[in-house]
Amino acid sequence: MAKRIVLAILLLVVVAIGLLWEKYRGDLTVELPVYAPVGNVVWLEQNWTPAQSDWFYHADQGTQTFGIPYEWFMALEQPSISLGNPGLFSDPAYLDRFGFIPLPAKSSNAELPIGFAHGGIAEEHSGAPFLNPQTNKPMTSFGLTCAACHTGRLSYQGKTIVVDGGPALTNIKNFQKAVGLSIVLTKLIPWRLHRFAERVLGANASDAAKAELEKQFDVVYRQIKTVNDLQQAAADHTIDEGFTRLDALTRIGNTVFALGTADTATGKILYPENFLGYSAPVHYPRIWNASWFEWVQYNASIQGVMTRNAGEALGVRAIINLTGPPNKLYASSAQIGTINDLEKSLAGENPFDAQGRPCDKTPNCFKGLNSPKWPDKILPPINAELAAKGALLYRDRCQRCHLPPVSTPEFWTAPEWSEPDADGQRLLRLHELPQEVIGTDAAQATDMKNRNVHFAAALGITDDNGQVVTTADFGSALGKVVTNTTGYWFDHQNPPTPTAERLRMNGSRGDGVRALLIYKARPLNGVWATPPYLHNASVPNLYALLSPVSERPITFYLGNREYDPVNVGYGTEELAGGFLFDTKIRGNSNAGHEFNNGSGPGIIGPLLAAEERRAIIEFLKTQ
Ligand code: HEC
Ligand code: HEC
Repeated sequence: MAKRIVLAILLLVVVAIGLLWEKYRGDLTVELPVYAPVGNVVWLEQNWTPAQSDWFYHADQGTQTFGIPYEWFMALEQPSISLGNPGLFSDPAYLDRFGFIPLPAKSSNAELPIGFAHGGIAEEHSGAPFLNPQTNKPMTSFGLTCAACHTGRLSYQGKTIVVDGGPALTNIKNFQKAVGLSIVLTKLIPWRLHRFAERVLGANASDAAKAELEKQFDVVYRQIKTVNDLQQAAADHTIDEGFTRLDALTRIGNTVFALGTADTATGKILYPENFLGYSAPVHYPRIWNASWFEWVQYNASIQGVMTRNAGEALGVRAIINLTGPPNKLYASSAQIGTINDLEKSLAGENPFDAQGRPCDKTPNCFKGLNSPKWPDKILPPINAELAAKGALLYRDRCQRCHLPPVSTPEFWTAPEWSEPDADGQRLLRLHELPQEVIGTDAAQATDMKNRNVHFAAALGITDDNGQVVTTADFGSALGKVVTNTTGYWFDHQNPPTPTAERLRMNGSRGDGVRALLIYKARPLNGVWATPPYLHNASVPNLYALLSPVSERPITFYLGNREYDPVNVGYGTEELAGGFLFDTKIRGNSNAGHEFNNGSGPGIIGPLLAAEERRAIIEFLKTQ
């Protein structure tokens, strides 16, 4: 009898564990696609030397994206629940499954995939160095750099084509979740913690050092829990970013105005209400030539170059002091000098001469990173006759918004170029379409416009009348925080950076931040290499984009990498561990930018016959 009771209880326990596992499996595992190994890597001609690419892939802009030092990241294990050793997290093949491009090391720094950077001294939230308790030496900072989000790749018949400045395929949300989970499992499973400590401290570490490491680990564990709790609280307003997308502007706001207000002593977040759900993920934009646009971001919201780049660095967690004593306010780990070098490499020299005249070189005067050329030895060759037909259609149907092709002299004399400034610099004023005209998903522009943030008076943020305020719209508050952060850096150089140089580093242009309900139309050079399409990645290929909305797929998978040179996109077939994109959800709408008969919101031209769509696509391959 007693035996039976024990058996029954055991059975109940097993069932309960099974049910709990079902309930929490999603939280305890990160499902990822399995990919074939990266073979045969090819670069296209983009006006960068291999050394320039290589530097861009790993340049340290001072970010500590995951709140842990490099040495810890290299010691973490994959977050699978297994009794044995699940393998190191930093295994390039594992990181590839999140979309990071694992490349054979070209520089000494390149044992990690494209986009990971390490270099400076890792800092704690207080700004104090993060020390290795065994050696008492500072550990190394570790985070993402521009290339993590702005390097694309296309797989085609066993080859991997790297697209510098193209949209990354990464799934950052899953990556972040996996890092968090790995830390949680390391804390909970004693033999994992033991292995971790041995990797970080060495085999003969003292008990005191081990105890100290555990203390450090607890702080990071609590930070992860805090972020998790904030994310849970905002879950109702969150949609999945999935592969190729990130809600960059919301994340920057959360990092700066919520996480950045953690009390240095207790870690308590002072302004948790500033943490919002990721409601408007956008496709990583291509960034060739963008240095010459007067306003950037999909909603043309940011003008100054440093505001955009240093703002991004704060978004991927450069440490910034927003709670310390007045003389330390706005001190940051962001490497403004490196960020300036990154921008210079992307921009190149002014495409105009000192009098503001374009070069006489065709097809293209841009001297920095250029759009890639269609590789007709790897991808099927372009049908020149069809492309010529497409060129005429482009002129009639596309040019009024997207400007004459960059490869033509008309582009370089277009009235959209501003008058030259004293140095002959001109900037491109892209066409900005009101959201109700272009009809594409409104979430990115709307959510930025509606966001307000709260902060301490001590930050000295002022309104238009010079009054110190404690609430402001997100755009102006971010603009001011970034300006003050770069200002702190400039002031603390030896000697302080001269005013003229500060202006130059901000791109010699206005420093506005605004939030209008608009989306900008940019030139389409290289767009064949940047699927999926529209700012929210809601249309998988060019053929679907040129088709009426009713013919575009309502759901499709993101995460496939095999390039489809006919429709110009990635494959959309079902993929285990991939991301099912549902265009019916707010933020994911695939409406607008439509060529169709009749008129109405989002219709921007007459229906294109199938043959016309093919011709335009063929033309876009030549650009
Ligand atoms: C974590 C990912 C990430 C990192 C790292 C990152 N970016 Fe971006 N970047 C984005 C996203 C996403 C956008 C689009 C945001 C929007 O418009 O809402 C963007 C926008 C831009 C734009 C504007 C493009 C346009 O057409 O308007 C430029 C230029 C740019 N980034 C350059 C950089 C540079 C330079 C760096 C490094 C200093 C960098 N980015 C780092 C994700 C990233
Ligand atoms: C009325 C202005 C207008 C016209 C005409 C127009 N576009 Fe656009 N286009 C835009 C705007 C604005 C966007 C950005 C919309 C968004 O991302 O929400 C855009 C986006 C795109 C994109 C997506 C780019 C990306 O970053 O994913 C492609 C591709 C494109 N257009 C191709 C074309 C082609 C081809 C034509 C002509 C057949 C055309 N467009 C005509 C305004 C226009």
